[in-house]
Amino acid sequence: MNKDSQLAKKLYNAQFRKYFEKQTEYKVMQSLRKKLDFLLGDVKNKKVLFIGCGDGKECISAIKKGAKVTGIDISENCIKLSNENCNGLNAKFLVMDFEKTSFKNNQFDIIISILSVMYKKDIDSVLKEFNRILKKTGFVLIVVPHPVRKMVKYNKMNYFVRGKKFEIWKGNRRFNYYRIFEDYVNSIVNTNLKIEKLLELKSPKENIKTPNSEINHPHFVVFKLVKD
Ligand SMILES: C[S@@+](CC[C@H](N)C(=O)[O-])C[C@H]1O[C@@H](n2cnc3c(N)ncnc32)[C@H](O)[C@@H]1O
Repeated sequence: MNKDSQLAKKLYNAQFRKYFEKQTEYKVMQSLRKKLDFLLGDVKNKKVLFIGCGDGKECISAIKKGAKVTGIDISENCIKLSNENCNGLNAKFLVMDFEKTSFKNNQFDIIISILSVMYKKDIDSVLKEFNRILKKTGFVLIVVPHPVRKMVKYNKMNYFVRGKKFEIWKGNRRFNYYRIFEDYVNSIVNTNLKIEKLLELKSPKENIKTPNSEINHPHFVVFKLVKD
């Protein structure tokens, strides 16, 4: 396991309850989950892999709709929490690094990564791994913070800040690899995936206290990818 995976494990093992309590209350995430649910479409009997599944709540809707769900996370405590939150539901949760999984080739109909690929320096290697374990007819959904969001919130309006940065989010410490749009697109091209759909999502209005700074820029990017 490389240093970044070790660090993510350490941070999420330590602050998992507090982090995911805050996230559950966060209206922005609630609205994102609704959108993703729609994008996932009919998941009945589909094999769906959740990457960096956190507290497992993101899996519940797909499980209830009849998907065969697997969730993986680097943090043992997140996996315990996923098992608690999905208690009684039919899903499998495993401690695993998403850059180097132990799954066979062409396993999954859908791979979904919500706010997790930014924990990796080498995004090409992550996308190659997703491509390897994805079925020929499958698709990948990747959600990342929009690079413009990083510019406004963390980078004093400098768009071109890249690399590993630490942030405090609602009292929790985390790190992310910052990237600009071309980095994501070039990695997709490099790894024989192609963009089928791209969404730039805003914060929901009702969440926002400072409308102009929060509403007038995109919060997340969602990439829907298929094999090239
Ligand atoms: C910001 S949280 C998002 C959790 C969840 N996807 C959600 O949206 O609620 C990032 C998650 O990615 C996990 N993670 C970070 N690096 C990882 C790695 N190398 N392999 C697997 N999971 C990882 C963390 O443990 C954490 O649960």
